[in-house]
Order: sequence, then C-alpha cells, then structure tokens
Amino acid sequence: MSVVLRKLSIHDGDDVYNMLQTLPANENGFMNGMAGRSREEFRVWLGKSAASAENTEIEDGWRVPQAVYWLYVDGRPVGMAKLRYFLTDALRQSGGHIGYAITPDERGRGHATELLRLVLKEAAAKGIDRALITVNNSNPASIRVALKCGGVIERISGDHHYIWCECK
Ligand SMILES: CC(C)(COP(=O)(O)OP(=O)(O)OC[C@H]1O[C@@H](n2cnc3c(N)ncnc32)[C@H](O)[C@@H]1OP(=O)(O)O)[C@@H](O)C(=O)NCCC(=O)NCCS
Repeated sequence: MSVVLRKLSIHDGDDVYNMLQTLPANENGFMNGMAGRSREEFRVWLGKSAASAENTEIEDGWRVPQAVYWLYVDGRPVGMAKLRYFLTDALRQSGGHIGYAITPDERGRGHATELLRLVLKEAAAKGIDRALITVNNSNPASIRVALKCGGVIERISGDHHYIWCECK
C-alpha cells in the first residue's frame, strides 16, 4: 500500500473535488467548506487555500493561516487535514492546531492515524513543538486517533477532549 501526504495545490483536480463531496459540511466540528460546492467554487477555494498556506499573519482580522493536506492511498485521495500555524483564544476552545477527516468508505483502516502522524511531522518542520487537537467528547474514533499518535489528554470539558501531541 502506498501512503503519501500531499499539500493542497492550485492544480488539484477531480479526484480531490470528488473526495470533498463525500465529506459533510460539518462532521463532529470538522468543517468542509467545499461540501455541495461547484467545481468553479472549488477552484477559487484552492487559490485562497494555497495562499493561506504561504501566509504567517492573521487574515481578515481573525483567520489563522493554515495548510491543507490530502492523504493519498494507492494513488487516490482518501482524507484531508488542516494544520493551523498558531492558536488564538477561539482555537484554544475549539479547533486547535490540527483537524482531519477520512472519506466514509475508507474509515476504520488506520488512515486517520497515518494522516495525523504525517501532519505532526509537517508541524514539526514548521517549528511547532506540540499541537493541540480538540475533539468532541462524542467522537471516540478521533480521540483514539490522537492518542495513537502519542496524544496526552490535558483536560476534558463538557464538550471537548483537549489533547496535545508532540510534533516529530
Ligand atoms: C475520526 C476519523 C477521522 C477516524 O478516521 P479512521 O481512518 O477511521 O481512523 P483510524 O482507522 O486511523 O483509527 C480509528 C480508531 O478509532 C477506533 N474507533 C472507531 N470507532 C470507535 C468507537 N465508536 N469507540 C471507540 N473507538 C473507536 C478504531 O477501532 C481505531 O482504533 P484502533 O486502531 O485502536 O482499533 C473519521 O471517522 C472521520 O473522518 N470522522 C469525521 C470527521 C471527524 O470527526 N474528524 C475529527 C475531528 S477532531
């Protein structure tokens, strides 16, 4: 099995677009702004997302710059992750540094664990020592993924697990 992490590119095509159509707009707090959007909207979004990944400052007064990655398994995109470069008070409450999702048909095969492991390496390369992952208490699969990647639960609120992973 070949497993490759690819950074979002303005040249991404239908394989990525189609994968994004399998992910809900909001699943357990993981937001997919491309759900139900047209290919034209997808192209515009690719441009904005690629620009954000090159940015280091807050955008539009609130948005933290982030990189988006695709997990390719045997040449097919099966999931995505977002890596935010730093935290704000809002992200400390919900969102954290890293979010991830796997296309429904491919869940339960270890892909999210591999995806998070690879994104933690990317985070380390960007100088992030440890990454916060906030997970809904009602999402045991994601809690398990974070713990399998060495995550340590800092606290559990009424809504979220706050899990820190060392980036390496
Ligand atoms: C959460 C998600 C990313 C997991 O993806 P995945 O590829 O299925 O994850 P993995 O296969 O790498 O690991 C899942 C782990 O959770 C475990 N798991 C799955 N359902 C579970 C449940 N109901 N209770 C406890 N553990 C569960 C699996 O057994 C596996 O652990 P194991 O390897 O020790 O057996 C995927 O379900 C998803 O995309 N959900 C929607 C988006 C989302 O919730 N993102 C996370 C936001 S923080």
